[in-house]
Amino acid sequence: MRVLIRNGTVVTAGGTLVADVLTDGETIAAVAPAIHATADRTYDAAGKYVLPGGVDVHTHLDMPYGDFTSADDFASGTVAAACGGTTTIVDFAVQDRGASLHDAVAAWQARAEGRAAVDYGFHVIVTDLPPAREPEMDELVAEGVTSFKLFTAYPGRLMVDDATIFRALLRTAANGGTVMMHAENGGVIEVLQQRALAGGRTDPRQHALTRPPLAEAEATHRAIALAELAGAPVYIVHVSAAEAVDEVAAARARGLPVFGETCPQYLFLTADRYDDDGARFVMSPPLRDRRAQARLWGALAAGELQAVATDHCPFRLADKHKHAEFTKIPGGVPGIETRMSLLFDGGVVAGRFGVERFVELTATGPAKLFGLFPRKGTIAPGSDADLVIWDPDRTHTISAATHHMRVDYNPYEGRVVRGAPDVVLARGLPVAEGGAFVGRAGAGRFLRRAPR
Ligand code: URP
Ligand code: ZN
Ligand code: ZN
Repeated sequence: MRVLIRNGTVVTAGGTLVADVLTDGETIAAVAPAIHATADRTYDAAGKYVLPGGVDVHTHLDMPYGDFTSADDFASGTVAAACGGTTTIVDFAVQDRGASLHDAVAAWQARAEGRAAVDYGFHVIVTDLPPAREPEMDELVAEGVTSFKLFTAYPGRLMVDDATIFRALLRTAANGGTVMMHAENGGVIEVLQQRALAGGRTDPRQHALTRPPLAEAEATHRAIALAELAGAPVYIVHVSAAEAVDEVAAARARGLPVFGETCPQYLFLTADRYDDDGARFVMSPPLRDRRAQARLWGALAAGELQAVATDHCPFRLADKHKHAEFTKIPGGVPGIETRMSLLFDGGVVAGRFGVERFVELTATGPAKLFGLFPRKGTIAPGSDADLVIWDPDRTHTISAATHHMRVDYNPYEGRVVRGAPDVVLARGLPVAEGGAFVGRAGAGRFLRRAPR
């Protein structure tokens, strides 16, 4: 199939130009003014942007979490992604303690294959890394699973010690992989949680109070120091606290290969949400205050943070409300569908940064950091024809009544955003039009990612 998108303003991280885009099969054939070619389908994009499909490098689909499982599987989650303008996801395969890293990837392949509507890759969450298992990291990098998330939080479940983090960093320094860090001080948090519970304080507000910004900043600082000692890059996921941004920015100012991601929830929501039905906003790190929000927006504009991903980890309200005690509420919020519109509205429409930076944060930057560029994350001949015709003027009201995510609430319910995808193509085929899914479950393919 050949698709011709005419008269759009084509945006890459490097600039914008009014041009036509021709796709041929799964890839982009040409980007040029006034292309004269026959096509099976032609779209007029005058007055619209043509963007690279969004790349969301932080999702948790079909993920077991204690007694619960995240509510979107690879079918529903990728339909929602496509409808929101995201055509690539990188999800987290979780290693069971004592099991091999390969088993984790195989388990996630089984979840995704035949279900995903857009292309997908995997990171591995490493929960246990005896030295004998380290070669598995090299094998996975060679197989295109090039990144590994480790936790300094959730003792007894996901947290690993500094030696394990350091060994993982040393390994990636040599094999071209990347360590991603969930940076919160799990020991400090556990003590604060025990004190809250002993004092009878069990409500969701305690979730934020027991995970203070300094616990995030300390772990961020430590992760960066361990990476510097190992001579390895490090990517800090879901940065939420101003003090943690400062750590990333200071390391980068020293020239270290340190990268930071934040998520829409930290840019648009604040901790006062815990005052009323706070369970729906339980996520880690927790929501912060307006000062942190301003620091995050400033860091995105200034280049101190490099990616906006979702940490999409939805749970239905029945699951969120199953246990009243804050430590037992499953953590995470939905967002795979709303990332692009929220960031366009809050970033570009609000005048915080331009549309090129928007593309860099939502597609090009993450694609480069995780071995997908230039196949993904840009608009150029030879790249996959993952394209979004984006209407910068269309407004819509975010609501659980209309979203495609398989969850019965939306953290941004009632928020009006300007900017929405009109048409979304994934490898040359339409997957969403006018907010409706028109693609096919199972059309998404596993992406073997390149090492650094
Ligand atoms: O609360 C959260 N963020 N849940 C998802 C898992 C994680 O730590 O990213
Ligand atoms: Zn995390
Ligand atoms: Zn996550």
